[in-house]
Amino acid sequence: MSRAAKFKAGLAVEEMTERQARAEHRRLAEAIAHHDELYHVKDAPEISDAEYDKLRQRLKAIEARFPQLVDRESPTQRVAPTPTTAFAKVRHARPMLSLDNAFTDEELQGFFDRVRRGLERETDLKPDDEIVFNCEPKIDGLSISLRYLDGAFAIGATRGDGTTGEDVTPNLRTVKDIPHELKGKAPRVLDVRGEVYMERRAFQEMNRRQEAAGEKTFANPRNAAAGSLRQLDPAITATRPLRFFAYAWGEAEPRSWKTHSEYLKLLRSWGFRVNPLSQLCRTPEEVRAFYRQMGVERPSLPYDIDGVVYKVDRIDWQERLGFVSRAPRWAIAHKFPAEQARTRLNGILIQVGRTGALTPVAELEPVNVGGVMVARATLHNADEIERLDVRVGDMVVVQRAGDVIPQVLGYVPEERPKRTEKFRFPTRCPCPLRTEVRSEEGGVVRRCSGGLECPFQQVERLRYFVSRNCFDIEGLGGTHIENFFNDGLLKIPGDIFRLPQRADEIRKREGWGETSVRNLIAAIEARRTISLDRFINAIGIPLIGEATAKILAQEYGDVDAWLEEMLAAAKERRKRPDEVKKEKAAAEVGPSYGRLCNVEQIGVTTADAMCGFFTELHTVEIIRDLRKQLTVEGVTRRVIAADAPLKDKTVVFTGELSAMTREAAKARAEELGAKVTDSVSKKTSLVVVGENAGSKARKAAELGIRTMTEEEWLKLAAS
Ligand code: IVH
Repeated sequence: MSRAAKFKAGLAVEEMTERQARAEHRRLAEAIAHHDELYHVKDAPEISDAEYDKLRQRLKAIEARFPQLVDRESPTQRVAPTPTTAFAKVRHARPMLSLDNAFTDEELQGFFDRVRRGLERETDLKPDDEIVFNCEPKIDGLSISLRYLDGAFAIGATRGDGTTGEDVTPNLRTVKDIPHELKGKAPRVLDVRGEVYMERRAFQEMNRRQEAAGEKTFANPRNAAAGSLRQLDPAITATRPLRFFAYAWGEAEPRSWKTHSEYLKLLRSWGFRVNPLSQLCRTPEEVRAFYRQMGVERPSLPYDIDGVVYKVDRIDWQERLGFVSRAPRWAIAHKFPAEQARTRLNGILIQVGRTGALTPVAELEPVNVGGVMVARATLHNADEIERLDVRVGDMVVVQRAGDVIPQVLGYVPEERPKRTEKFRFPTRCPCPLRTEVRSEEGGVVRRCSGGLECPFQQVERLRYFVSRNCFDIEGLGGTHIENFFNDGLLKIPGDIFRLPQRADEIRKREGWGETSVRNLIAAIEARRTISLDRFINAIGIPLIGEATAKILAQEYGDVDAWLEEMLAAAKERRKRPDEVKKEKAAAEVGPSYGRLCNVEQIGVTTADAMCGFFTELHTVEIIRDLRKQLTVEGVTRRVIAADAPLKDKTVVFTGELSAMTREAAKARAEELGAKVTDSVSKKTSLVVVGENAGSKARKAAELGIRTMTEEEWLKLAAS
């Protein structure tokens, strides 16, 4: 048997214990070294390239799940990075936490009080003793974790959900601020954490370059940094102006530092950039002064900050204070208010959304709002324009807050020109069909009545289809969808998967080059396999978003079974269009409709909207066409063992859990057979009561429902 074959039937990486992984990692590393030698030195390979690649892939999968196994000798560390097709998952050795926010001075005071009370309780801190805080700007980028082994950069990952992130090591190696080797004496194992970001000026230049090349542009430096880091080809990341500030750690073995400020000094000595504005403050007044000072400096900093972060400097104190769910009790993010500016309103444009809803958009004289040029802002709907009474020609106040779309807050009365006119909402859609505009939902929403025929809606539906939470096809963003649509390359979602056959045509288009076409095709091919919930979300059923799509996927499990049931439900409903109650839906309308109505979060209104959607012949054809081109991954229903400890139990979690996140606790309870719900009722079997629990714990006591402390829950969860 060849060496490669020996590993083929191995244990699935997801099921391995660390010991098994370690043993297999060693075997694989040896095998790869052996084949490397046969190939490169002896010119006498024994296995095919494909078999060799399989060995490497398996080794990489093991390292992604068990980053502690990555060592300098590992084959993954010895060869120049090759473009990856998708990102492997990396489990963080210590979770990557987020921060609680304080927006007001009261909230900040609350933080100071909690810290002081906690330390007085947990340590010998006296009321007059100082608590020193390390204060830092809060960089608006994305956090990453960099693992160093014996001072060498081994693996780098995005935050992901805090527990598991994406392996973007080759991309991070191209970021100049990230050292490949640490200077001086470094811990044996060290996870350095910090923020990857883009400076504003570099962001604007990059966007100009992207635009000129017909490539995707980004809304703000944060998105640009995230998009640039998540490139499948590290060569592209290398061309993006990414920067890095270090500010935290994950695992550190051994850890020599006793305060956060000491750690920041060490980071500098190892070769990292640490924000030079970071400062120690000894009193709440000093902390507040730091906040004001940063507010003043904010517009002139070369990068975006959205607040400041305060961290208790002493690490022994941090440890005493601990965590609440996902955030440390010893740190807080003090946010800045949204940034505002004044500018002229040049016009009001009507945009057509994917469901035909018309949204008025303010066209502005471009203005710098906290470092980002804003030329458009949303006016939400006709009522909002009425309420604000903004008119074309007005001087208006616009606001931008982080990722949120800029908004118009109002106009400046003293600067209203003479002879302005109240805005009259159009009665015909701006689409080429010029259809009538209908008012819906109490008149707030106005809709184009062109339905599936309206080309504007078609474009928006395609845009939604390729967006992040749906098919997430990179390279089809910006104006590409619209241009492809106008030139007949795309009409319906299925056409996207026929684009690879038309690569030659795309290559000839202005702004498209060999690399961008190759990347686009790779991005499309990578999505030929898609999860059922994304599929459901992407096809754009009215009232169905990401969350309900997930529930539907869980309920129906398989794409074809689901489609069949939807068609059956629509047919049943057509035959019986009368008013119906959810409970009687199965008996009065039919089994498929009844089942749909009774899915969690669906109900009659949503079910009817879905049935309407599946009644359109054209829609059904479009979905069938799409279905044919894809592998839709079903959801395997969990089989719960007869002796599962929480089988048939309804469990509620309330209060703050300190050892695991709410999501993790919920997932574990479900694995143990439970149904987890949000509210306590007679049907509840068990309530797990965390810290600061409120009304739910009281209600459980009133109803005499069994409760459990976090400690007891952890014991059960470990079973
Ligand atoms: S400390 C346990 N320090 O803010 C402490 N975070 O809202 C973990 N961020 O996910 C974070 N600048 O992406 C820390 N100086 C700074 C930061 C910072 C930006 C980001 C980071 C984090 C988010 C939390």
